[in-house]
Amino acid sequence: MRYRLGPTLITAPEIRARVQELAGMISLDYAGRDLLLICVLKGAAIFWADLCRTLRIPCQSDFVAMESYGAATSPLSEPRFTKPADVALADRDILIVEDIIDTGHTSARLRELLRARSPRSLATCSLLDKAERRQVATPIEYCGFVIPNAFVVGYGLDYAQQYRHLPHIAVLERIPEA
Ligand code: IMP
Ligand code: MG
Repeated sequence: MRYRLGPTLITAPEIRARVQELAGMISLDYAGRDLLLICVLKGAAIFWADLCRTLRIPCQSDFVAMESYGAATSPLSEPRFTKPADVALADRDILIVEDIIDTGHTSARLRELLRARSPRSLATCSLLDKAERRQVATPIEYCGFVIPNAFVVGYGLDYAQQYRHLPHIAVLERIPEA
């Protein structure tokens, strides 16, 4: 199977405008609190970089990475950290920054793992929500865009480590066999 870059789903100006809106809401909700952004590598890196620079309140940041297995593999192999958080999480107001919530398995497990470290509060900000694909319910307190069931790339999201640098979000298309 071969793939190519398909049509734009969300333009760079649309992303910029939505990041402003999300940052505005987060700045109000977390004013006077002890905000710690937890950026989920690698896909959320670009979103995190734009979001945190648009916040109007102080915050700290840390980074985690998760290894997840597709739904096709053993349901016993739950997503786990390949890089856990470095800083203490107890009594912090944690906002997880994610690229996309698809089946929900990664985010649900991440919340469980972070919850076990006794934060004062825990919420999720995801740029994208592929809501139709959900298998496990998981809250998204701040959602950028709900998107249809398509594989998307750009603005941090990859296919085989490609396309992360694109300023917009595009659909990845299958090239028809000749
Ligand atoms: P979930 O555990 O099924 O919710 O998977 C979430 C992870 O799958 C995301 O953090 C992405 O790394 C990856 N993913 C799911 N859908 C897409 C997509 O359309 N494009 C790129 N990565 C995706
Ligand atoms: Mg990913």
